[in-house]
Amino acid sequence: MAKPQISYTCQSCGAHFTKWSGQCDSCGEWNTIVEEAPLSPGPGKALKGARGRKLALTDLSTKEAPPPRSASGMEELDRVLGGGLVPASAILVGGDPGIGKSTLLLQAAARFASNGLKTFYISGEEASAQVRLRAARLGLTDAPVQLATETSLRDIMTTLDEERPDLVVIDSIQTMWSDNVEAAPGSVSQVRATAQELTTFAKRRGAAVILVGHVTKEGQIAGPRVVEHMVDTVLYFEGERGHQFRILRSVKNRFGPADEIGVFEMTGGGLAEVTNPSALFLSERGKPAPGSVVFAGIEGTRPVLVEFQALVAPTPHSQPRRTVVGWDGGRLAMILAVLESRCGIPFTGLDVYLNVAGGLKVGEPAADLAVAAAILSAREDVALPADCVVFGEISLSGALRPVGQTENRLKEAAKLGFSSAIAPAGGKISGREGMSLREMADLTAVVGEVFGAG
Ligand code: TYD
Ligand code: MG
Repeated sequence: MAKPQISYTCQSCGAHFTKWSGQCDSCGEWNTIVEEAPLSPGPGKALKGARGRKLALTDLSTKEAPPPRSASGMEELDRVLGGGLVPASAILVGGDPGIGKSTLLLQAAARFASNGLKTFYISGEEASAQVRLRAARLGLTDAPVQLATETSLRDIMTTLDEERPDLVVIDSIQTMWSDNVEAAPGSVSQVRATAQELTTFAKRRGAAVILVGHVTKEGQIAGPRVVEHMVDTVLYFEGERGHQFRILRSVKNRFGPADEIGVFEMTGGGLAEVTNPSALFLSERGKPAPGSVVFAGIEGTRPVLVEFQALVAPTPHSQPRRTVVGWDGGRLAMILAVLESRCGIPFTGLDVYLNVAGGLKVGEPAADLAVAAAILSAREDVALPADCVVFGEISLSGALRPVGQTENRLKEAAKLGFSSAIAPAGGKISGREGMSLREMADLTAVVGEVFGAG
């Protein structure tokens, strides 16, 4: 009988090779090539011609009960999860080192455990004493969380299979190590293999598994994107180092809406929930100043007001700078181009800086008009009234497009003491929520009527 041919497959791009090498010739990734033996028929079974099991098919109208959920009682976390933790699900929580993932998950584990879930916290990074010290600092020593320090996946799986917990926190997936894979912990194949095994455990035993993942400099969870495909929910924990605000954002959720955010504040006693983020994001706002504009945004299911700050200054360089924090750089370039070519406002020889105050990352196109207004306000040295919010999408023609959830935006603004709004014309607005609305058809009108320029 011929010897089964062993082949080597890159786990990143799927290219096949006849021999192993450290770097994949096809995609350039390192340490992604693993040996794959061909499928061999088990004893007494012929692979070819063997009949599989017939599938039980259902139609789309089959009623499915909503998954039973366990709430932690931390409202900001439960909402991001889509209403609580779903059994038999895997959740990845990514974030920069030191942002507060361990703190958040220890607090969450304590809440879930106190609500009756059998909860394990397995740390591969810190000694149990360190985790206990943190628990003491957070005032959680009485919570019935079971703690272990371990990196060997085999030992962890044995424990989990015997103990059958309802919730397991693995901190972090990069420190876990499976002896089935010959690669260093944290490498692509280890992360993939351990995440796969833990996810399978979640499905098999009906437990919820939370994996902590560190993010690389490029902003990706170290290890392949594949981990994100394996799990049901991907949450990112974001924030600026210098700021105390932290934002938990769902980027994927099979059991709830994506793009939902939860806002926390890092305090000496751990993470505190922020139930009114608008007030927090606007708390540092001073007197109305040129370049500062309040955007009435929607994050997930919630309206959130944030301040956009712009600075426009003559540049000493031949190539003017365009620097953005908290907003998309490509979109800023687009807005500058529209201002230049549709409204006749040139930016040659001018540096443009744009910042979202408070460390929030805004992704909504509805912020276009707020960005344009902040830049115009800075460039023309004209401050908008202190009681004014702005929202609307800008098209390449310079026309303003109405955006969704106008009422919610206005309601939130009114709640925080704002009384006027600049918005696109043509939005079907039923209630104005006591706000005076300046409806504008295009950007040229905003340039001329609001800033007296153009
Ligand atoms: P940590 O949860 O260890 O971050 P990660 O797991 O994401 O690496 O928290 C990191 C920082 O949080 C650390 O610099 C100290 C700070 N911190 C507080 O400010 N207050 C607290 O109560 C705790 C526990 C930590
Ligand atoms: Mg940690």
